[in-house]
Amino acid sequence: MHGMPSQKDNFLTTGKLGWRSPSNIALVKYWGKFSRQLPSNPSISFTLTNAHTETWLKYVPKEDDGVIDVRFRLDGMKKMAFATRIKRYFESLLPEMPFLSCFSFRITSSNTFPHSSGIASSASAMSALALCICELESQIFDLAFNGVDLMHRASYIARLGSGSASRSVYPVMVSWGKHPAYEGSSNEYSMPVPFQIDEVFTRFHDDILIVSKEEKKVSSSEGHKLMTHHTFAKMRYDQARDNMTKIKRALINGDLKAFGQIVELEALSIHSLMMTSVPSYILMLPNTLAIIQKIRAFREANKVPIYFTLDAGPNVHVLYPHHMVNEAKAFIQESLLEHCYQNMVIEDKVGQGPISLKK
Ligand code: PMV
Repeated sequence: MHGMPSQKDNFLTTGKLGWRSPSNIALVKYWGKFSRQLPSNPSISFTLTNAHTETWLKYVPKEDDGVIDVRFRLDGMKKMAFATRIKRYFESLLPEMPFLSCFSFRITSSNTFPHSSGIASSASAMSALALCICELESQIFDLAFNGVDLMHRASYIARLGSGSASRSVYPVMVSWGKHPAYEGSSNEYSMPVPFQIDEVFTRFHDDILIVSKEEKKVSSSEGHKLMTHHTFAKMRYDQARDNMTKIKRALINGDLKAFGQIVELEALSIHSLMMTSVPSYILMLPNTLAIIQKIRAFREANKVPIYFTLDAGPNVHVLYPHHMVNEAKAFIQESLLEHCYQNMVIEDKVGQGPISLKK
């Protein structure tokens, strides 16, 4: 979007900036993409609080030879695989961020959730990184002065690294992808939902039950690819669009029952798509199903609003409103912990989005 400024000397300074950005959990799921990281269907998510990444970007001017120079450390350790991924990401951004080849970058990151706990870290990691480079861009080109919104730009840039990361830059409840019932929506970037949600959804909990810490056998990007020729692809995209309309109604009306029905159906739908992909694969484990069955039985027996959703993995996100907190936590302790890897739970809740870290 921006060319190089004419007076390079003005921006070739050394500096450091940092962002803390949260993960998010999709309620209507993005599954399948086309072109350059565009979603085959719209999605909507809760922004989380505790599961987040902190990223610092140190930049030192170098000769602009068109080459990207990045070094990366996660929790103080060199991680070559991540460094290579970031280098490729920066290279892919060069046409619209040519200043990236004018600096040597030293990037350090840490996650609050244990590394490879099975929690998708790409949303928090990619959004934190995107915020860092967008803030640098904003400083160089004085974008705030020119009316460019940093979060809007960061959502777009984060999307190019990881689709779901585009949703992590805004608070509470965020949608991504074109949908007629979501005014101003676009496939290119996310936005805070363009309607007033009932207060009950602003204080929701998400306790993430870690069933396994193993790395997934099939990555999300491979999963997205398998949707291209999937027998149920068209039906799935129609279903997701329909669920976006239905969940909007539930969110506005504070209809917990309708909300839970849609969210659980969404989770099981994307796992059904994995099972019916060619080749087929299954990411749920016996303990995933045991937890799901127990949540449903508890809900029926006690007539309480407690629901589950799943990411692309075996871990179970237990969703419930704040007024249920004591009952839900007791239930998790007494009945669900036994199905978790080393009794591991990440207690999280709806959050307020990224924050800038002071130098
Ligand atoms: O953003 P990706 O490529 O990691 O894909 C995320 C896919 C799901 O987490 C399963 C769903 C979603 O919308 O976040």
